[in-house]
Amino acid sequence: MSYYEVLIEETGEKYRCSSAESLLSGMERLGKKGIPVGCRGGGCGVCKIKVSQGDIAKRVMSRDHISEFEEEQGTVLACRVKPLSDVHLCVIGKMQKTVCAKKGGPTDSNAGAAN
Ligand code: FES
Repeated sequence: MSYYEVLIEETGEKYRCSSAESLLSGMERLGKKGIPVGCRGGGCGVCKIKVSQGDIAKRVMSRDHISEFEEEQGTVLACRVKPLSDVHLCVIGKMQKTVCAKKGGPTDSNAGAAN
């Protein structure tokens, strides 16, 4: 079993996660706020994240929550993936507003804006 460092890009928070646990349970173990927690089993879709860097091992994810296109873009359910290297992730969906608000950044109406 290996341990990797996971960075939540929106908050800059980091936590360690083992290769034997999901990105979600690694974060939960440390009591961090960031990825929303629901069913922990791939059924509710609230823990949706986008992996921007790093390698992960994926378990089957429902197409109700992650489309083929999303998966190609690196979007996954945090409760269904385990790290295989250090990982950078972004929170997606409902929780993003809350997470971003912590930093006092722009409002959620600015989605998709780039440099
Ligand atoms: S917590 Fe429900 S899908 Fe991940």
